[in-house]
Amino acid sequence: MSDPVPPSVPALVTGASSGIGEGFARQLAARGHDLTLVARRTERMQALAKELRAQHSVKVSVHTADLGTHAGRGPVATMLRTKGPWLLINNAGFGSRGRFVDLDAKREAEEVELNVVTVHELTAAVLPGNVDAAKGAVINVASTAAYQAIPYMATYAATKAFVLHFTEAIAQELHGTGVRAMALCPGPTRTEFDQVAGMSALFNMPLPMSADAVVRSALRALDRGHAICVPGPHNLILAQGPRLVPRSAVRRIVSTIFDPR
Ligand SMILES: NC(=O)c1ccc[n+]([C@@H]2O[C@H](COP(=O)([O-])OP(=O)(O)OC[C@H]3O[C@@H](n4cnc5c(N)ncnc54)[C@H](OP(=O)(O)O)[C@@H]3O)[C@@H](O)[C@H]2O)c1
Repeated sequence: MSDPVPPSVPALVTGASSGIGEGFARQLAARGHDLTLVARRTERMQALAKELRAQHSVKVSVHTADLGTHAGRGPVATMLRTKGPWLLINNAGFGSRGRFVDLDAKREAEEVELNVVTVHELTAAVLPGNVDAAKGAVINVASTAAYQAIPYMATYAATKAFVLHFTEAIAQELHGTGVRAMALCPGPTRTEFDQVAGMSALFNMPLPMSADAVVRSALRALDRGHAICVPGPHNLILAQGPRLVPRSAVRRIVSTIFDPR
């Protein structure tokens, strides 16, 4: 078993204005990490920062950025490159639902930009400093969607497959450096994700976890040095189940679940 990342290592959380990112901010502050919160909705992050400073006596700074743009993520990458080591939580992301041919191509491209390019670029920015210091970690938030193609969420599932494979490979490469990388693969979680992705009906099932439970599971797995965390036993079945069934059958079953018609 590894030790937790020491609280002397500051954490940077992307997508900290709601959901899983907010959960990370809360639990990392409770562990004593100073924080940098990054997202677009400044007021929400400022309110959270004020609360966490008062509750946990940690330093919390707020950085407003649209991470879906080169200009927005540049200063964040610079911060990661120059002020490390860090515990980086690459969490900002969104999904979209519908037949790919009918969806707004520009928004689909933005999804790839945020869910893939930003995760790649910020991971590249943080790792050299972390490895030099032999400290810190990266959690990249993927999804159980990463484990199979999802018709009607084609772009989303493919972006998360990238995050899972990329992070798992890096976790192995970092072995022995003192730096950890972990892919977090939540299943349905009660956040604002479903509203943004236009899929509330699916999330009315009793299975969704709370963001707090997902984050607790993630931090426990990181403490133990795991390369992948799938929170919740039911999600582990969801993630591993498709391996036991032919891909063509998985595709058809998943298609009937996600078809919005
Ligand atoms: N909820 C689920 O069921 C579920 C399951 C598996 C994986 N995930 C993954 O978990 C991560 C967090 O999602 P969530 O469920 O917590 O959803 P959420 O409540 O909608 O949170 C998404 C966060 O990402 C930020 N964000 C979105 N676009 C951004 C941009 N262009 N620039 C900067 N920040 C941006 C949002 O902040 P602003 O709008 O303020 O910018 C928000 O803080 C995502 O990567 C998602 O794919 C979620």
